[in-house]
Amino acid sequence: METTFTFTPQADKTTRYHEFIPQMALLIKDEHEEVSVLANVCAALKECFGWFWIGFYLVRGEQLILGPFQGSTACYRIRKGRGVCGTAWAEAHTQVVPDVEQFPGHIACSSLSRSEIVVPLYNKDGQVCAVLDIDSEHLATFDDIDRQYLEEICCLIEKSVYLS
Ligand code: SME
Repeated sequence: METTFTFTPQADKTTRYHEFIPQMALLIKDEHEEVSVLANVCAALKECFGWFWIGFYLVRGEQLILGPFQGSTACYRIRKGRGVCGTAWAEAHTQVVPDVEQFPGHIACSSLSRSEIVVPLYNKDGQVCAVLDIDSEHLATFDDIDRQYLEEICCLIEKSVYLS
Protein backbone atom coordinates (compact mmCIF):
# COMPACT_ATOMS: atom_id res chain seq x y z
CA MET A 1 0.00 0.00 0.00
CA GLU A 2 1.37 3.39 -1.02
CA THR A 3 1.10 5.76 1.95
CA THR A 4 2.93 8.82 0.67
CA PHE A 5 0.72 11.34 -1.07
CA THR A 6 2.02 13.30 -4.02
CA PHE A 7 0.63 16.68 -4.93
CA THR A 8 1.63 19.82 -6.80
CA PRO A 9 3.00 22.49 -4.47
CA GLN A 10 1.23 25.84 -4.81
CA ALA A 11 -1.58 24.28 -6.87
CA ASP A 12 -4.99 25.88 -6.53
CA LYS A 13 -7.57 24.31 -4.25
CA THR A 14 -9.53 22.51 -6.96
CA THR A 15 -6.38 20.95 -8.42
CA ARG A 16 -5.31 19.91 -4.93
CA TYR A 17 -8.62 18.12 -4.31
CA HIS A 18 -8.43 16.44 -7.73
CA GLU A 19 -4.98 15.11 -6.84
CA PHE A 20 -5.98 14.14 -3.31
CA ILE A 21 -9.24 12.25 -3.85
CA PRO A 22 -8.01 9.33 -6.02
CA GLN A 23 -5.05 8.80 -3.68
CA MET A 24 -7.28 8.84 -0.64
CA ALA A 25 -9.71 6.44 -2.33
CA LEU A 26 -6.86 3.97 -2.84
CA LEU A 27 -5.67 4.44 0.74
CA ILE A 28 -9.00 3.45 2.29
CA LYS A 29 -10.71 1.17 -0.21
CA ASP A 30 -9.64 -2.13 1.38
CA GLU A 31 -9.88 -1.15 5.04
CA HIS A 32 -13.13 -1.03 6.99
CA GLU A 33 -12.05 -0.36 10.58
CA GLU A 34 -13.59 2.97 11.58
CA VAL A 35 -10.78 4.31 13.79
CA SER A 36 -8.04 3.21 11.38
CA VAL A 37 -9.63 4.73 8.29
CA LEU A 38 -10.60 7.99 10.00
CA ALA A 39 -7.11 8.36 11.48
CA ASN A 40 -5.44 7.90 8.10
CA VAL A 41 -7.84 10.32 6.40
CA CYS A 42 -6.95 12.97 9.01
CA ALA A 43 -3.24 12.39 8.45
CA ALA A 44 -3.63 12.54 4.67
CA LEU A 45 -5.71 15.74 4.79
CA LYS A 46 -3.17 17.32 7.13
CA GLU A 47 -0.30 16.39 4.82
CA CYS A 48 -1.99 17.70 1.68
CA PHE A 49 -3.84 20.77 2.96
CA GLY A 50 -2.11 21.67 6.23
CA TRP A 51 -5.22 23.00 7.94
CA PHE A 52 -4.99 23.90 11.63
CA TRP A 53 -7.31 21.18 12.98
CA ILE A 54 -8.81 18.19 11.17
CA GLY A 55 -10.85 15.58 12.97
CA PHE A 56 -13.94 13.47 13.34
CA TYR A 57 -16.63 13.53 15.98
CA LEU A 58 -18.63 10.30 16.24
CA VAL A 59 -22.31 9.99 17.13
CA ARG A 60 -22.73 8.09 20.39
CA GLY A 61 -26.29 8.24 21.71
CA GLU A 62 -27.37 11.86 22.05
CA GLN A 63 -23.89 13.30 21.79
CA LEU A 64 -20.81 13.48 19.62
CA ILE A 65 -17.56 12.15 21.02
CA LEU A 66 -14.07 13.10 19.90
CA GLY A 67 -12.66 10.69 17.31
CA PRO A 68 -9.38 10.56 15.39
CA PHE A 69 -7.89 13.97 14.69
CA GLN A 70 -4.77 15.94 13.79
CA GLY A 71 -4.12 19.13 15.71
CA SER A 72 -4.28 20.44 19.24
CA THR A 73 -6.31 18.83 22.02
CA ALA A 74 -10.06 19.29 21.67
CA CYS A 75 -13.28 18.95 23.64
CA TYR A 76 -14.45 15.37 24.20
CA ARG A 77 -18.21 15.70 23.91
CA ILE A 78 -20.67 17.89 22.01
CA ARG A 79 -24.43 17.69 22.45
CA LYS A 80 -26.78 17.45 19.46
CA GLY A 81 -27.59 20.92 18.15
CA ARG A 82 -24.67 22.52 19.99
CA GLY A 83 -21.81 24.32 18.25
CA VAL A 84 -21.02 23.93 14.58
CA CYS A 85 -20.58 20.16 14.86
CA GLY A 86 -23.81 19.57 16.77
CA THR A 87 -25.67 21.79 14.29
CA ALA A 88 -24.31 19.86 11.29
CA TRP A 89 -25.57 16.69 12.98
CA ALA A 90 -28.98 18.05 13.97
CA GLU A 91 -29.62 19.60 10.55
CA ALA A 92 -27.88 16.80 8.60
CA HIS A 93 -26.29 19.52 6.54
CA THR A 94 -22.76 20.80 5.91
CA GLN A 95 -21.96 23.98 7.84
CA VAL A 96 -19.55 26.48 6.24
CA VAL A 97 -18.57 29.12 8.79
CA PRO A 98 -16.43 31.99 7.45
CA ASP A 99 -16.11 33.63 10.89
CA VAL A 100 -16.62 31.46 13.95
CA GLU A 101 -17.36 34.53 16.10
CA GLN A 102 -20.49 35.12 14.03
CA PHE A 103 -21.82 31.57 14.58
CA PRO A 104 -24.17 31.51 17.58
CA GLY A 105 -23.02 28.87 20.07
CA HIS A 106 -19.72 28.12 18.37
CA ILE A 107 -17.58 25.96 20.67
CA ALA A 108 -14.02 27.30 20.80
CA CYS A 109 -11.67 24.38 21.38
CA SER A 110 -8.82 26.71 20.37
CA SER A 111 -8.84 30.51 20.38
CA LEU A 112 -6.71 30.31 17.21
CA SER A 113 -9.57 28.89 15.15
CA ARG A 114 -11.16 31.60 12.97
CA SER A 115 -13.19 29.70 10.35
CA GLU A 116 -14.56 26.19 10.09
CA ILE A 117 -16.37 23.63 7.95
CA VAL A 118 -18.27 20.61 9.28
CA VAL A 119 -19.52 17.82 6.98
CA PRO A 120 -21.87 15.04 8.16
CA LEU A 121 -21.31 11.36 7.35
CA TYR A 122 -24.22 8.91 7.03
CA ASN A 123 -24.74 5.25 7.88
CA LYS A 124 -26.74 2.70 5.88
CA ASP A 125 -29.98 3.90 7.52
CA GLY A 126 -29.34 7.41 6.22
CA GLN A 127 -28.66 8.70 9.74
CA VAL A 128 -25.74 10.99 10.58
CA CYS A 129 -23.15 8.76 12.30
CA ALA A 130 -20.14 11.13 12.40
CA VAL A 131 -19.00 14.57 11.30
CA LEU A 132 -15.76 15.75 9.73
CA ASP A 133 -14.68 19.02 11.37
CA ILE A 134 -11.93 21.20 9.87
CA ASP A 135 -10.72 24.44 11.45
CA SER A 136 -8.54 27.21 10.04
CA GLU A 137 -6.50 29.93 11.73
CA HIS A 138 -7.65 32.29 8.97
CA LEU A 139 -11.03 33.85 8.25
CA ALA A 140 -13.15 32.56 5.35
CA THR A 141 -10.87 29.64 4.45
CA PHE A 142 -13.72 27.38 3.33
CA ASP A 143 -16.26 27.91 0.57
CA ASP A 144 -18.54 25.97 -1.73
CA ILE A 145 -15.59 24.30 -3.47
CA ASP A 146 -14.45 22.83 -0.15
CA ARG A 147 -18.01 21.80 0.68
CA GLN A 148 -18.35 19.96 -2.63
CA TYR A 149 -15.05 18.07 -2.41
CA LEU A 150 -15.17 17.35 1.31
CA GLU A 151 -18.67 15.91 0.86
CA GLU A 152 -17.22 13.70 -1.90
CA ILE A 153 -14.44 12.64 0.48
CA CYS A 154 -17.00 11.82 3.18
CA CYS A 155 -18.97 9.69 0.68
CA LEU A 156 -15.81 7.63 0.04
CA ILE A 157 -15.30 7.19 3.78
CA GLU A 158 -18.93 6.10 4.17
CA LYS A 159 -18.43 3.40 1.52
CA SER A 160 -15.37 2.01 3.31
CA VAL A 161 -16.54 2.28 6.89
CA TYR A 162 -20.28 2.77 7.33
CA LEU A 163 -21.92 1.14 4.28
CA SER A 164 -19.75 -1.97 3.90
N1 SME B 1 -15.77 24.35 16.93
C1 SME B 1 -16.50 23.13 17.06
C2 SME B 1 -16.02 22.30 18.23
C3 SME B 1 -14.95 21.33 17.90
S1 SME B 1 -13.43 22.05 17.72
O1 SME B 1 -13.46 23.03 16.65
C4 SME B 1 -12.26 20.92 17.40
C5 SME B 1 -17.98 23.40 17.22
O2 SME B 1 -18.38 24.55 17.40
O3 SME B 1 -18.76 22.45 17.18
